[in-house]
Amino acid sequence: VHSKGAIWRCQILILNIIYLMQNLKSKHYKKNILVIHSNLASSCKQFLINQKQCNHNMNFLIMGPPGAGKGTQAKILAEKYNFMHLSTGDMLRHEIDNKSDIGLEAKNYMNQGFLVPDDVLLSIMENTLTSLKGIGIILDGFPRTIPQAEGLEAIFQKLDLQIDYVINVHVDEDILINRLTNRAKNSGRSDDAEEVIINRQKVYSELTEPLIQFYKDQLLTINGDGTVEEVTQRILEKIQ
Ligand code: AP5
Ligand code: MG
Repeated sequence: VHSKGAIWRCQILILNIIYLMQNLKSKHYKKNILVIHSNLASSCKQFLINQKQCNHNMNFLIMGPPGAGKGTQAKILAEKYNFMHLSTGDMLRHEIDNKSDIGLEAKNYMNQGFLVPDDVLLSIMENTLTSLKGIGIILDGFPRTIPQAEGLEAIFQKLDLQIDYVINVHVDEDILINRLTNRAKNSGRSDDAEEVIINRQKVYSELTEPLIQFYKDQLLTINGDGTVEEVTQRILEKIQ
């Protein structure tokens, strides 16, 4: 019960319930599940807070182009600070695996390296963040557009939450392409195909990079080139 594994089990449980809820088509059933989902999420959250295993004071965003190491670093920070790591890419891939309506819609965009529409992401995140209110989170891959950032601001305001740190991991494009091309050999990710990798970088420049200006007052830009440990160390130096 006291092991860190408990956090991950709760996290998986909460996310699975959220997915289940979102996938249900019957309104009556959905209403009941919504109650079960909220109760379970609250119980898990309370359990983590009681165990003092979860940092419930801080919220991080981690941004950067595809392959910058957002997921790698978010996982390390989540373990170090007992945050919940929420990766919208992982959530959407889970939807695709489950062949849900959201997954079916997302698949076409993701396979080509385009962003899934903002309203889909905002609705997923509003449900998730509302259920997890009070638990420290690290958002990986969200927001990704100005409308998503504005939507997140509104959600946080409604929930009386704040963003404490915005970490921007910078890596030059040739290194990113190299990393993702290497990962393609084993990842099984359909968006790791060469032409899709290039499109993901282009989409990042057009739609996500403007967030650097949006968050300019809070932004901590980190050089993401180097070993995983070196990059973690640079992040820790900036936030401590
Ligand atoms: P998502 O899953 O978020 O993918 P991404 O941003 O394109 O990038 P990656 O996850 O591939 O890279 P990363 O920065 O997490 O790096 P990682 O740690 O994995 O999104 C996928 C798709 O979902 C999007 O294209 C979009 O369609 C959709 N989507 C998701 N969120 C959305 C949103 N908010 N709105 C709309 N659509 C959304 O590392 C990459 C590789 O490099 C790994 O092999 C890793 O081992 C390696 N590596 C990491 N760090 C280092 C290091 N320091 N040195 C050497 N190698 C390293
Ligand atoms: Mg990732």
